[in-house]
Amino acid sequence: MNWTEKTWIVATCGRGCADVLKAELAALGYAPQDVSATSVGLEGDLRDAMRLNLWLRSANRVLFEVAGFEVDSADDLYEAVRSLPWELWLRRDVPFHVHGVAQHETIRDPRFAVLRCKDAIADRFVDQTGARPDSTAAPEGAACVALYWKETDARIFLDTSGVPLSHRGYRWRGWVAPLRETLAASIVLAIEWGQNPAEAFIAPMCGSGTLAIEAAWIAQNRAPGLAREDYAFLHLAGPDVAAWRDLQAEARAKFVSAPRTWIAASDVDPQAIACARENAGRAGVESLIRFHTCDFRDTPLPKPPALIVMNPEYGERMGLEDRLVPLYEGIGTYFKTKCQGMRGAVFTGNLPLGRKIGLHPTRRTAMWNGDIECRLLEFDVYEGTRDARLIRKHGGGESAPQ
Ligand SMILES: C[S@@+](CC[C@H](N)C(=O)[O-])C[C@H]1O[C@@H](n2cnc3c(N)ncnc32)[C@H](O)[C@@H]1O
Repeated sequence: MNWTEKTWIVATCGRGCADVLKAELAALGYAPQDVSATSVGLEGDLRDAMRLNLWLRSANRVLFEVAGFEVDSADDLYEAVRSLPWELWLRRDVPFHVHGVAQHETIRDPRFAVLRCKDAIADRFVDQTGARPDSTAAPEGAACVALYWKETDARIFLDTSGVPLSHRGYRWRGWVAPLRETLAASIVLAIEWGQNPAEAFIAPMCGSGTLAIEAAWIAQNRAPGLAREDYAFLHLAGPDVAAWRDLQAEARAKFVSAPRTWIAASDVDPQAIACARENAGRAGVESLIRFHTCDFRDTPLPKPPALIVMNPEYGERMGLEDRLVPLYEGIGTYFKTKCQGMRGAVFTGNLPLGRKIGLHPTRRTAMWNGDIECRLLEFDVYEGTRDARLIRKHGGGESAPQ
């Protein structure tokens, strides 16, 4: 495998997070070229792919394109995939995993297309080496291949991530309605927290603590992939382990263990705080976050500048809509009475409930939580008038249509 040959890299992300991902890529020195709803493309080699796996906070996967062809049936796909030099890219002693999407009139179930890819890879291997590699249904510990087939356009990628990058490794999976780690990081980056080191980060209604933990990692300049060991690129043929060790060492050198940043997380449910503490412990940031078990209105606040970020229930998975109206009204009152001179942000999947906050957002950004279209509402709480009016900071524009 040639680790310095440039090809097309596609970083994938949740719907609504592509602008954040594009900004992350630009900050890492790349020139993102092709932005879709759920991905950003750029030119790069496998070393770039490793670096992106290590550093990107908002991406779910980093895909490295190895081929693209026109196909009109599953048989065409099989022949095209079989013609590729898999014996140079994969290893006999490591299982390979294939996943992907397929939309073509001849395909009723995308799993059939994936199966044909698997057969083609294994058959090519047997042709060239006499041995058949194992395939596996799970990406853990495997070399991973991704298929994207739409109409006659089929593209084959080495999925250099394997297990999605949202699996940071710190989360206790038992908590209800947690935000995915990559979505939480996208929210923190979208509201541009971390640019002013003096601005505190407060996460009332923290649930399992994902927002506060991702904020703490940003404050530490911690590469989100630093502690992760299982990357699919390490299971390819002849991985450039020396380059990977260099990237890890560089990331360790940039890590700031104890940034002087006020980060707090609170929740009314003691079990949520226990879970958030455990997660923060696993993420190595328990000592950076001030935890409080209390109603959101009683969360101890520092003086401004501070950012208050909340992800209240929105009736979809946890509570009923009517019951939540007083909660959203209470958030508006809280911002007006207790958060003057600060920034506020609310991430919700229920726009009518969001309007109950009763304040005019300076910006609304559409982001999807799985299948649920959500809004990130940002508020600037103006200091100095009796009613704490809101001021427009970002020109009042929306980053996505309602
Ligand atoms: C949707 S969950 C937050 C999930 C969180 N973002 C995560 O990643 O785990 C909403 C949280 O708000 C908390 N909550 C509800 N009402 C509250 C209140 N009045 N004060 C503080 N927390 C509250 C719930 O206990 C729950 O943990």
